Amino acid sequence: MSQDNRTASVRSIRSRFRAIAVLPFAMLFLAAGGDLLRQRGTTEPPLRIPTDVAWTRETLAIISRGDGFRGLLLARRCSHCHGEEGFSNVSMIPNLAGIDRSSFWKQMEDFKSGKRISAAMQEIATRSSARDSADLAAYYSILPTSSDSQDERSFPQAMRDPSRASMAIELILFGDGRRGIPPCQACHGPVGSVKGAPSLTTQNADYLLEQLNHFANGDRANDINIRMRSIARQLTDQERTALAEYYGAGFGPDTRAW
Ligand code: HEC
Ligand code: HEC
Repeated sequence: MSQDNRTASVRSIRSRFRAIAVLPFAMLFLAAGGDLLRQRGTTEPPLRIPTDVAWTRETLAIISRGDGFRGLLLARRCSHCHGEEGFSNVSMIPNLAGIDRSSFWKQMEDFKSGKRISAAMQEIATRSSARDSADLAAYYSILPTSSDSQDERSFPQAMRDPSRASMAIELILFGDGRRGIPPCQACHGPVGSVKGAPSLTTQNADYLLEQLNHFANGDRANDINIRMRSIARQLTDQERTALAEYYGAGFGPDTRAW
């Protein structure tokens, strides 16, 4: 055998060997790929956990230890958006004055973990430790919600269409049993309260409408037990607007008497 022929046959053996060596891997790969494709077609998507926050004794202890004075100092990072007195001058940004502490704290944790998505809040929340958020919650919760002529709050906003008021009142006081919608006031006050459900009576209309829309289309999905998503989905566009504008006008039932 000439040198050339020998090299050629070695090459061909090698390449055949390579093909044989690669074959089992290729088969495994194809089999696994097929499995993946089949799984995608037939099984449900993995269950998404709405939040990492659970209302345990430990969580409530962290929140109740919040130091309002330290919160006041930390709030300097927040006031250009949420207002010096916890009332924003833009209706799209939420008011924080008088906010329920647990609700505030949960939202900060959810922004941090990405369970609630917000370009404005994620980085800020990431820089706040659980203790910082408890201190901030303590501070904002004690800010008064009564009106103040000194600041530039955008709240309250007049209803764009006051004829929608009766639609909002109906849902706030009674809900709609036929569609399985409980009254808003049963969870948001003053009739009842659910842990983590903030009062809506001093909240801005544009912000409320955006949140209701986000719950309805699933862009906001951090509510435990899908409580708000299942309600918002049932509401018509008109009802969501009516509710947001009614609360935003300051007409919501008074929750200060809790
Ligand atoms: C750049 C403006 C900006 C700054 C600064 C800012 N926020 Fe916010 N914040 C927002 C916006 C906008 C939202 C609404 C997010 C959304 O669209 O879901 C929000 C939402 C929140 C909420 C949720 C309120 C609710 O009712 O669910 C909390 C709590 C909050 N911010 C706390 C803070 C704290 C505490 C700071 C300072 C450490 C801060 N924010 C600084 C813009 C800001
Ligand atoms: C079964 C209890 C329940 C009922 C009834 C309910 N909510 Fe809620 N709602 C919640 C809870 C709990 C949250 C807080 C979700 C979270 O953890 O982020 C919430 C959050 C909200 C928010 C977001 C507030 C914010 O500051 O970010 C809006 C807006 C809202 N609800 C509007 C309504 C309206 C309007 C109704 C009546 C049609 C209603 N809800 C009825 C429990 C309820």
